Amino acid sequence: MTRTVPAILRDLKARWADLKDLPVRFLFEDDSARFADFSFGQGDLLADLSKTAMTREVLSDLLALAEATGVEQKRDAMFAGEKINTTEDRAVLHVALRNRSNRPIKVDGADVMPDVNGVLERVCDFADKIRAGRIRGATGLPFTDVVNIGIGGSDLGPAMAARALSPYREGGPRVHFVSNVDGAHITDTLADLTPETTLFLIASKTFTTLETMTNAASARDWIASKLTDRAVRSHFAAISTNISKATEFGIAEDRIFGFWDWVGGRYSVWSAIGLPVAIAVGAESFKAFLAGAHEMDEHFRTEPLGSNLPVLMALSGIWHRDICGFATHGVVPYDQRLELFAAHLQQLDMESNGKRVTLSGEPATMETGPVVWGAPGTNAQHAFFQLLHQGTEIVPIDFLVAAEPHEDLGDHHDKLIANCFAQSAALMVGRDAEEVRAQLAEKGMEPDAVEALAPHKVFPGSRPTVTLLYKTLDPRTLGRLLALYEHRVFVQGAVWGINSFDQWGVELGKELAASLLGVVRDGASPEEHDPSTAGLVAHLRSLRGR
Ligand code: F6P
Repeated sequence: MTRTVPAILRDLKARWADLKDLPVRFLFEDDSARFADFSFGQGDLLADLSKTAMTREVLSDLLALAEATGVEQKRDAMFAGEKINTTEDRAVLHVALRNRSNRPIKVDGADVMPDVNGVLERVCDFADKIRAGRIRGATGLPFTDVVNIGIGGSDLGPAMAARALSPYREGGPRVHFVSNVDGAHITDTLADLTPETTLFLIASKTFTTLETMTNAASARDWIASKLTDRAVRSHFAAISTNISKATEFGIAEDRIFGFWDWVGGRYSVWSAIGLPVAIAVGAESFKAFLAGAHEMDEHFRTEPLGSNLPVLMALSGIWHRDICGFATHGVVPYDQRLELFAAHLQQLDMESNGKRVTLSGEPATMETGPVVWGAPGTNAQHAFFQLLHQGTEIVPIDFLVAAEPHEDLGDHHDKLIANCFAQSAALMVGRDAEEVRAQLAEKGMEPDAVEALAPHKVFPGSRPTVTLLYKTLDPRTLGRLLALYEHRVFVQGAVWGINSFDQWGVELGKELAASLLGVVRDGASPEEHDPSTAGLVAHLRSLRGR
């Protein structure tokens, strides 16, 4: 008999009640196949889920949950171009942007692939001409620096990817990212740049976002004042779905790269929003990045749920969030070049799944998106790992590490991997009081002192981790990793029954900021705002003397 979702959740909770006091390391004792059975692959990429408290029974219940919540049907609807973003009446087709097989994908009956391929070719052509110095600035000099002005999905994805793929730059221009409306960001970025050799990319799906438009106007003033008004056309390009606004801004039509309303901002690095990445690493590497994502798409689209990497990663997240009650999710890549990975995932996951109502507008019955955070190892070990090992809050962590580095630099990479493996082992195995006491006694410590110190040196263990291990962080693998996390987010949203593709939660703050600008900049009365905000305005005015 098929179980209902509440029945499956009840069963999972009962399993957790039995498992929660059982050390995870014990799960390996009578089970020599545990590592093999709980590690899942896609090509050279392996995800080890064995260091979690999931048992075969748990996994089977979680797979039943995926089936009962219609994950496969929802996935197929996304790939088929159905308008699954119901609150905005839009299809969700970032997978079309990297559909290197060119299989037709239709929205409203029309295949989107010819347009997708057309823009991709323009992006690649422009990128390679900038790299080769065939497109130059107003004074005839080649571009040495490219500044992407955008925020959120128009910044985080490309900034992360350009940084991750820096070994593939091969003499391409330096790429910078300006996002914050804080004038410090653009000021500090431009301080070291030369107008004659700087190209600006204005990246905004809507071309109305306050931060981006403010920074774009300052960049245009910088070029116009240091060069000429006419130079603006040679030093700017735009990436947007709002072509008329980009033209109005003064950007030449052949420098505007479009995309479509079915590309969500946080899923847009695969579109023309990826232009800074294409300029940084060249068209060939950019296409390899897309091809890697397409490989993961095909895996997600065709692999049975029980061996489907994004599905399994998502289900382990559901287990930790909804059954074990762990409220946050950490991502720790042992790769300095993935230093922006957690920041990108934070938007991807929290903007997608930070929802409190289901698709039908009813309150969600399960906990939805966790708080996502992280930083690269080994640095993170010296910052927040104390809490991971011995704090009262349990944080499931994803570790990411490559077998091969890009550098030939002594034993740096061996030390990096050793640290990564050591952390997940320590988090799982822990160190019990008996072992601690024996160690202290062996050092000759008095029994009283041993008893006083021992509790501080105990590691409870059983702290869940998933390790992703792959050959090397090349464009293809970065594409696979990012697509893996996108689909992980999708599957979780599907299980929770929410819309992972809208973001109404960012609207209220934007509206209030617009009205408070009238108060802060133009001296309007703060009366209509709450008393606390009005109090802050009064203190601000006293500090500014106006
Ligand atoms: O404020 C959230 C958001 O709408 C994101 O979803 C989006 O990526 C970002 O702002 C930037 O929007 P745009 O690309 O339209 O400037």
